[in-house]
Amino acid sequence: VALLEREAELIALKRLLKEDGVLVIEGGAGIGKTALLGAACHQAKELGREVLRARGSELESGFAFGVVLQLFERLVASADTRKRAAMFAGPATSAEPLVRGRSGTVPPTDSSFAVIHGLYWLAANVAARKPLLIAVDDAHWADSASLQWLAYLASRLEGLPLCLLVALRPAEPESEGAALLAVRAEAPVVRPQALSLSAAAAISRETLGTSADEELCTVFWRASGATRFTCGSCSGALNSALGHGAR
Ligand SMILES: Nc1ncnc2c1ncn2[C@@H]1O[C@H](COP(=O)(O)OP(=O)(O)OP(=O)(O)O)[C@@H](O)[C@H]1O
Ligand SMILES: [Mg+2]
Repeated sequence: VALLEREAELIALKRLLKEDGVLVIEGGAGIGKTALLGAACHQAKELGREVLRARGSELESGFAFGVVLQLFERLVASADTRKRAAMFAGPATSAEPLVRGRSGTVPPTDSSFAVIHGLYWLAANVAARKPLLIAVDDAHWADSASLQWLAYLASRLEGLPLCLLVALRPAEPESEGAALLAVRAEAPVVRPQALSLSAAAAISRETLGTSADEELCTVFWRASGATRFTCGSCSGALNSALGHGAR
């Protein structure tokens, strides 16, 4: 999808991929966080990065390390013995039972320092092989053990060929939890704004064709969360119906 009116956000993503570090995307439902995250992942692959992507889910937020497993499990499972040994070298070894699913060797809720630290080293080892993007969408629904690890990682990225991109809804109570607050404090934040009427109209017409008249486009635009009237080209009747100029 070609993203409209996201030039500044795309520049911030480009900078992240160039310079490494952390970036947070914040905004309400439907504002375009996943779309931006997707654009970053696409660009990262084109730049030759390893991309590990996961998303929090309301239904899975009780599963310890669910998001971490989404990130690493497949990569680890598909690696040959030599690559896997490199991934779990050094302190990363303490994360191996968790990521390789050797149940019984690590309690599923074990978010002890050794496991968190091991996961940090796993990320560092993966990044040492190939620059890495870790992208976590809907972080407000991520399980707390994964968030603890995310906060730990975010504060120790310096010098690693690794960037971390986190998208969240700031209005969700979980976004105010200690771990996510720490990540948010660590990072520059982009806050995509509601699209203008003309962009909403362009999307409406691309989707619906000519049946999307001016009035319908305006309805969609208002429903998209726009609070500002940014287009002066509407008819007088339409403007007064909408309370043109009202903020
Ligand atoms: N800048 C944009 N230009 C065109 N389409 C966009 C833009 N931003 C988002 N969209 C489209 O709007 C829809 C909603 O966007 P998206 O899913 O990224 O929102 P979100 O912020 O992730 O919402 P949620 O919090 O519910 O996950 C998607 O179909 C997406 O492709
Ligand atoms: Mg989303």
